[in-house]
Amino acid sequence: MFKKITRRNFIWFSLGFVAAVGTTKVTLNYHSKQKILALDNPAKDFTVIGTSSLKERAAVKGLMYGTAIRNHHLWEDSKLAETLVKECQILVPEWALKWYIPNPALRPEPNIFDFSEVDKILAFAQNKGLQLRGHTLVWHESLPPWFQDTVNSNNAQQILEQHINTVVGRYAGKMHSWDVVNEAINEGYLLVREQKNNIPNNLKNNLRKTPWLELLGDNYIDKAFRLTHQADPTATLVYNDYGLDYDTDADEAKRNAVLNLLENLKSKGTPIHALGIQAHLDASETNFNPDKLRSFLRDVASLGLKIMITELDVTDEKLPSDIEMRDRIIAKTYEDYLSTVLSEPAVTTVITWGISDKYSWLSDFKPRPDKAAVRPLPFDANMNRKLGWNAIARAFDNARLRS
Ligand code: XIL
Repeated sequence: MFKKITRRNFIWFSLGFVAAVGTTKVTLNYHSKQKILALDNPAKDFTVIGTSSLKERAAVKGLMYGTAIRNHHLWEDSKLAETLVKECQILVPEWALKWYIPNPALRPEPNIFDFSEVDKILAFAQNKGLQLRGHTLVWHESLPPWFQDTVNSNNAQQILEQHINTVVGRYAGKMHSWDVVNEAINEGYLLVREQKNNIPNNLKNNLRKTPWLELLGDNYIDKAFRLTHQADPTATLVYNDYGLDYDTDADEAKRNAVLNLLENLKSKGTPIHALGIQAHLDASETNFNPDKLRSFLRDVASLGLKIMITELDVTDEKLPSDIEMRDRIIAKTYEDYLSTVLSEPAVTTVITWGISDKYSWLSDFKPRPDKAAVRPLPFDANMNRKLGWNAIARAFDNARLRS
């Protein structure tokens, strides 16, 4: 019945299969490239009126603009320091207030707190009239090497209390806000998988399996906020997360899970004051739906929460190599996103995760395949303003005045 497959037939079939796969890949590649090129509009200008800085443009609308900063960059690069003071009203240490990034680390040993770097950045901010925000008290990343062998279910509560009371207590009254808990909700694609398996969208199922969850149970988030509020009643307390921006199944699932968490916390009387949206954007992402994002922001605001854009940057990892085209598409991404989020009055602060391409974490985290320097931020490596700066400036200029 089945014709014996001769060697020759098998070879022809295999060649045909490989050719079909190859053609499909080329076609898909071609279409994705066309979609990205369609994002570019060489005619679109990003004209900015006047010479005001981002700080000044934000302030006249009752907003604040700022950036994350690695301490040593500030001490080593006077041009960076000068630009940052001119353009920013608020700073966030990119490393210094994490449990352990050796620069030197805040928590080198279980009973040692090294505040040297934090004290220096706070003094710098105070001296320049800038605000400082803390990032982050409870996170599953940047934990010290000693954490796993030292912290267990018997002492985890005491160690969390010690960390928050010592760190938040030291800077009580001097911090604008704290990212109390960072990235506690599962990755969006995992939430989508749970939905497909009919696992209910509730706190227990949505939480990322972190050491804090394993050690303290699903009430650890409420505990952390209560401890922080007790240690510094003046600070705005923030839940911070990413993957909330786009019209994709994963981001939609994550928006729903974050909203569920916020509703849960508010219903328990947790002292939470704001949602931090990291906003690590992708210039090649075409699934951006302003109405869906605005609807989510309205739902968050309806809980009586403020909203902070806490880690804004735009990866150009998948963009063509042409620099002028990259800068235009990145600027469009900034303006489209910020004009959307700033239409929500509850959005009060915009912080970019770095201010200059020279120091972006994306150089390591999302390097370009062509090895070209990444261009995700408002200033280039020589501290010159880019179209991204214009886009942010235009978004502030067009924003409504906050009451
Ligand atoms: C990143 C820093 O930028 C890197 O330098 C470091 O190696 C790892 O952490 N979300 C967060 C930030 O909340 O703390 C992360 O910062 C970036 C993603």
